[in-house]
Amino acid sequence: MSDEPGPFGVLRLPDQIIFGTGSVASLAPEVAALGRRVLVCADPVVATGETFAAVMDVLVDLGVSVTVDTGIVPELPVDGVHAAAERAREAHPEVVVGFGGGSALDQAKLVALLLAHGGPLARFYGENRVPGPVLPLVAVPTTAGTGSEVTPVAVVSDPDRELKVGVSSRHLVPRAAIVDPGLTFGAPPSVTAHAGIDAFVHAVEAYTAGTRSPEWAQELPVFVGRNRLSSLLALEAVRMIATNLRTAVADPLDEPARTAMAHGSLLAGMAFGSAGTHFSHALQYPVGALSRTPHGLGTGMLLPHVLAACRTVTTAELADIGTAMGVPPGSPDERADAALAAVSSLVADIGLPAGLGAIGIPKNSLPRVAELALGVARLAGNGPVPPTQERFEQILAAASRSTSAAPQEVRR
Ligand SMILES: NC(=O)c1ccc[n+]([C@@H]2O[C@H](COP(=O)([O-])OP(=O)(O)OC[C@H]3O[C@@H](n4cnc5c(N)ncnc54)[C@H](O)[C@@H]3O)[C@@H](O)[C@H]2O)c1
Ligand SMILES: [Fe+2]
Repeated sequence: MSDEPGPFGVLRLPDQIIFGTGSVASLAPEVAALGRRVLVCADPVVATGETFAAVMDVLVDLGVSVTVDTGIVPELPVDGVHAAAERAREAHPEVVVGFGGGSALDQAKLVALLLAHGGPLARFYGENRVPGPVLPLVAVPTTAGTGSEVTPVAVVSDPDRELKVGVSSRHLVPRAAIVDPGLTFGAPPSVTAHAGIDAFVHAVEAYTAGTRSPEWAQELPVFVGRNRLSSLLALEAVRMIATNLRTAVADPLDEPARTAMAHGSLLAGMAFGSAGTHFSHALQYPVGALSRTPHGLGTGMLLPHVLAACRTVTTAELADIGTAMGVPPGSPDERADAALAAVSSLVADIGLPAGLGAIGIPKNSLPRVAELALGVARLAGNGPVPPTQERFEQILAAASRSTSAAPQEVRR
């Protein structure tokens, strides 16, 4: 690891993180320890599975009153979240479980927030605007990707805003995260690829984020930048994901690859939950809104070009990333260059499309995309170099020229 992993450290995590195949069985005792009435915000696909039904049965057997809500609309339009909170109110839940991909976990976080503090959700957009604890949350991810099971953020779409908006607060960190790799086995290759590369971007951006000096006497920002506690986790996440993502996409039933991906995405979430992410995420907001493509597809397509734009100020970090990805020994410059090539290969090998044009982002829209991304200050301001219109346009132009990945049908 580079000599200076940052002068300070911050981590914010659940009280308990449980990892391992079969660990979903611990959901019932975890919930029962927190309350007698539970609302389960469940992914509609996952909720049809036998495992989900079996776990709910155990909860009922323990005497817990269970309400399952599968009303999760993709991209989480804010009206859908408000409606879910209204439905939930009648059941008076004491605990909220998120069971599914990042969308289900984020919905659970936001419903727990609305039930505790009332709406509308717009009151809480931004950082540190949640006034106190939300209902206790238990998060059970079924994709290896977002890390939302351990992070202090949830993302919604609001028709009044051009871009998705985040609610970021330490109070959104779930009380318990139960990460059972077995639950990810059903995820199709495109979901595996998009979620998995997003986890990789979380790790790389947490490791290459800017280092800032916190004002210790003031409330800390939710995302504090690169720091010495998150960096260890981020680098190990890079190693695990780089080694296993190709296999998980190509062979969805490969148990070691699925296990490593679940582990890697968890570590990446733990890292970016305090360090934050940066330019690929800021740029994905408008790219995703314009192209209507999944979050991870956009962050993955942008990452190689973001890293190239930050190459000269992040040589040491990129060299570490290269080593974690298995590039040959060499000078920091050699390993940093090899890291850039390795990241591009990974993105291409999992089938992300080549060039932003392939997902419907025309060249003449790039200045506006750059301008919108600059407005996502929490992310744009967390990079290793200052965000500027010119720099963002250069990154987008490079991502538009890219021809290194195989085209694939990805719209949804
Ligand atoms: N809160 C955070 O920290 C954070 C971080 C990154 C992204 N996000 C958000 O997470 C969302 C994306 O989450 P995601 O990538 O996990 O996708 P997702 O939750 O939107 O799910 C994608 C699709 O996969 C299906 N699915 C999920 N698990 C499955 C399984 N095991 N088997 C079969 N199908 C399955 C779902 O039904 C859905 O159709 C976005 O809204 C993004 O903004 C949140
Ligand atoms: Fe992400």
